[in-house]
Amino acid sequence: MFTNLLFDSADGIARLTINRPDKLNALNADVIRELGEAALRIEQDDAIRGAIVTGAGPKAFVAGADIGEITTQNPVSGRRRALNGQAAFRRLERCGKPVIAAVNGFALGGGCELAMACHIRIASENAKFGQPEVKLGIGPGYGGTVRLPRLVGRGRALELLLTGGMIDAQEAWRIGLVNRVVPADQLLAESESLLRKILENGPLAVRACLESVTAGADMSLDDALAFEANLFGVLSGTDDMREGTAAFLEKRKATFRGE
Ligand code: COA
Repeated sequence: MFTNLLFDSADGIARLTINRPDKLNALNADVIRELGEAALRIEQDDAIRGAIVTGAGPKAFVAGADIGEITTQNPVSGRRRALNGQAAFRRLERCGKPVIAAVNGFALGGGCELAMACHIRIASENAKFGQPEVKLGIGPGYGGTVRLPRLVGRGRALELLLTGGMIDAQEAWRIGLVNRVVPADQLLAESESLLRKILENGPLAVRACLESVTAGADMSLDDALAFEANLFGVLSGTDDMREGTAAFLEKRKATFRGE
């Protein structure tokens, strides 16, 4: 179904692998289009409850937008390229299911931006992060200037954005860009194990957390609190809440049905 992605789903988990290892999985227009399609599938396929995004090969998660394509762009096509990438990443971020980036090497430019659009990032020890666009005389176009300061704070984000420098996995962990760092050969297993832990919980409640954090980040404190209270109210009408609370009181494991 996809040319530049490997996509499979089993047992509730979709695995999405950007598959251009000879170009360090650089994001050309076709990859971006397919990423948007994959995000739509994750959103709409009820059998998929969460996803893991990674890159093919041992060296790169994604080494950025495809620089060959960038050379030919003009202001109109450049803006369109940025909007297309932003839309694909935003669709993934808002798919309503937990998405973990398993960062298996270079996550530069669009690669760092893709990882940041995922909800949780786990890095292998050899991962490297950066927004090197300024070295090419261009800026980030897929959300780097927007999500990076929200994740690591404005000063640290600006240092990365303005120098175009790279940081290793340990530094990315220290500044809060990734949730944890694991040996490369354990990256996918650790990512899956974390995702499975999340998927044991009520799916409607997990979705509400994702929605509240994603949408609430851009609201005033009062609006975000009101939004959270509304979601809390909605969850109060679900079978899952009745099951989860009853299971606790009856000292048994809850069986959630997402209803
Ligand atoms: N776009 C297009 N092609 C890319 C690419 C990108 N962002 N990143 C790597 N590639 C290609 C290289 O051109 C090379 O292709 P070739 O074998 O046909 O010459 C191949 O991937 C391997 O990359 P190479 O540079 O030889 O590997 P390296 O180990 O020496 O260096 C990097 C790795 C990541 C440091 C280096 O590839 C790099 O700096 N890439 C660009 C990063 C970047 O600026 N991203 C932001 C883009 S907006």
